[in-house]
Amino acid sequence: MVFEKKYTVKLLPGAFDRMDDSPDETFYAIPRFVTHIDPGAIRVVTDLYRKYLPPGGDILDLMSSWVSHLPEEIKYRRVVGLGINDRELSRNKQLDEWSVHNLNKQPSLPYANQEFDGVIICVSLDYLIRPVEVLEELGRILKPGAPVIITYSNRCFETKAIAAWLSSSDHNRAYLIRTYLLEAGYFKEIELMDCSPEAGDPLYAVVARVR
Ligand SMILES: C[S@@+](CC[C@H](N)C(=O)[O-])C[C@H]1O[C@@H](n2cnc3c(N)ncnc32)[C@H](O)[C@@H]1O
Repeated sequence: MVFEKKYTVKLLPGAFDRMDDSPDETFYAIPRFVTHIDPGAIRVVTDLYRKYLPPGGDILDLMSSWVSHLPEEIKYRRVVGLGINDRELSRNKQLDEWSVHNLNKQPSLPYANQEFDGVIICVSLDYLIRPVEVLEELGRILKPGAPVIITYSNRCFETKAIAAWLSSSDHNRAYLIRTYLLEAGYFKEIELMDCSPEAGDPLYAVVARVR
């Protein structure tokens, strides 16, 4: 199902507050070798990557962990991971290289202009306290026309998710992401989708392309 409405979300004071505002390095110090969504939802994520990411491209997995959900049969030139736990990232077999970087401390990204052909962010955007700045950076490091694929479900680490996320319904979270993308200013063809399988974890996606 595609969301047709053109809503934007008004961000109120406190929108980016979190219950646990201690350094993210502390919360994520213990590696979590789990999958955060069930196999049906992961299949949907992988299908989205199959559909939107260009084979042979340079791909960035932002807020990456020990799994990237990329389709195994497709070869990408380079897959780069950025996350906050080195033990999770070092276990990720789909990454060619990775770095540890706290986006909430430093939203600017350690990559060159137009270095990537696609960016994926899976079940993680809700933890960013400066999401528009991070998306602006994606506008810089992606080539013109390249996609960013943002997916989410209905679960999160509640103490680390921002207030605007926790107070939104699943569908309104797509409009919240759309608002971030519009504020960042670099994106076109923004698609909001409910791709939930018939059973199990719901899965929503927001896909946009750099102008
Ligand atoms: C729920 S996990 C999802 C991991 C992975 N994308 C997946 O699909 O399984 C959230 C991830 O967000 C990343 N993360 C959380 N806060 C972060 C921050 N401040 N800077 C960078 N990455 C962060 C962590 O690396 C963590 O693995």
